[in-house]
Amino acid sequence: MQGAWRRLRRRLKRTCLYGWYRRYLLWKEYRVWRCGGTSSTPHLVKQRVVREYARRSGVRVLVETGTYRGDMVAAMRHRFSHIYSIELDAALYADAQRRFARQRHVTILHGDSGAVLGSLLAEIAEPCLFWLDGHYSEGVTARGEHNTPIRQELEAISRHAFLAQDVILIDDARCFIGQDDYPRLVEVQAWAAARGLGICDVQDDIIRIHRRDLPAAGGRMVSKR
Ligand SMILES: C[S@@+](CC[C@H](N)C(=O)[O-])C[C@H]1O[C@@H](n2cnc3c(N)ncnc32)[C@H](O)[C@@H]1O
Repeated sequence: MQGAWRRLRRRLKRTCLYGWYRRYLLWKEYRVWRCGGTSSTPHLVKQRVVREYARRSGVRVLVETGTYRGDMVAAMRHRFSHIYSIELDAALYADAQRRFARQRHVTILHGDSGAVLGSLLAEIAEPCLFWLDGHYSEGVTARGEHNTPIRQELEAISRHAFLAQDVILIDDARCFIGQDDYPRLVEVQAWAAARGLGICDVQDDIIRIHRRDLPAAGGRMVSKR
């Protein structure tokens, strides 16, 4: 039975129905969260946060680390003029490449984001919105040299010529306790302060780093249930 389901899912991935299937799963996850069935922030809320910062900052380039099934790329494809997403796992990378092959403004890159990000950023001559989410999380996900390449990613971002206008969103803030290769949150805050990025807050399990004078958030609060 499980084998049949896996085969069906593999076929589904090659059709345009796959996007609808993923959206349905994310909507189901959101419903469970709304009803108090789980405490972890659902992907739809994370999408709202990325959208909100795109609007507030006016940044037109999204750089994601950790593509996984391509859910963030799919949700943001009409919001940004270019999207780059880096995935370490070869099969996930190939699936994402196939899924977004027709979207000329989407570039899926294969490799360890800790290593790839530096050369990518040397080519991007405008501010970026970063969605840093490339880490090992069991199942089919890849593990590079570290459980999380976040230190190397921040190091690469430090050298981006547009750092002062970049917006950096880091998922899974709860993991930043100094274990399993994750730095402590205070280390990330010190990194941001040392680079003149005045805001380093946490909300909805997302670390948000940017300059102080970003226009205020308008509209709905994303964390309210
Ligand atoms: C939590 S998932 C990403 C979810 C995705 N960003 C989204 O919002 O839909 C983490 C992904 O990071 C990938 N990954 C793990 N280590 C990585 C690394 N060093 N470089 C790039 N990707 C990595 C995993 O294979 C997995 O697909």
